[in-house]
Amino acid sequence: MLELAPSILSADFAHLADQIAAAERGGGTIIHVDVMDGHFVPNITIGPPVVRSIRKVTKLPLDCHLMIENPNDYVQAFADAGADWVSVHYEACPHLHRSLEMISRAGMKPGVVINPHTRVDLLAEVLPIVHHVLIMSVNPGFGGQEFIPFSLGKIRRLANMRQEMGLTFKIEVDGGVAHDTVAQVVQAGAELLVAGNAVFGGGDPERDARALLGTARKSAQVAV
Ligand code: DX5
Ligand code: ZN
Repeated sequence: MLELAPSILSADFAHLADQIAAAERGGGTIIHVDVMDGHFVPNITIGPPVVRSIRKVTKLPLDCHLMIENPNDYVQAFADAGADWVSVHYEACPHLHRSLEMISRAGMKPGVVINPHTRVDLLAEVLPIVHHVLIMSVNPGFGGQEFIPFSLGKIRRLANMRQEMGLTFKIEVDGGVAHDTVAQVVQAGAELLVAGNAVFGGGDPERDARALLGTARKSAQVAV
């Protein structure tokens, strides 16, 4: 099923509860939370205290995308704050299998993320234990960047691997997903669409979430 995960990175942080409620009314069903540490990526954002606050204002799953070094050290803090899904970067985890198991054991859904330069084939061994795979379609760190076209081939390859391996993990795409790119992303096989700027950048998250999801659903029908 196609779902929209509004990324609060581009929201107005002074009115976060209202912004989340608006994106939810517009059809968002997962709240994507970008956690950056200024080391793994050249930007700093938010952490468990903000997750704890958001937890009180929405029932939607909180999808925490950890763009941080040493993510294992923070898994329990995110669980305690009320995170539902936690994804870690392949590039930040020398013991990726262990990190994913830690997330599961803490009661959350584990996801793995790959940067644009990382091949999907490298994930084969961990695919059976993940709930979702997040394909970065920009270099992580900032909202509002341009979609990298070769990501489409990676989505297709991952969808093929999933079918060949008989697995059911979800394919999520993050970065530059907007009106002009969403059709291709959906047709390549993505089902969880992260969007920051396209939802929160235009001043009306409800309208813009609804419009983006509408375009995504139409493209899915064309693809079938
Ligand atoms: C970027 C983040 C994204 C970001 C996407 O590093 O992981 O989730 O919010 O923003 P847009 O949709 O504006 O490209
Ligand atoms: Zn993200």
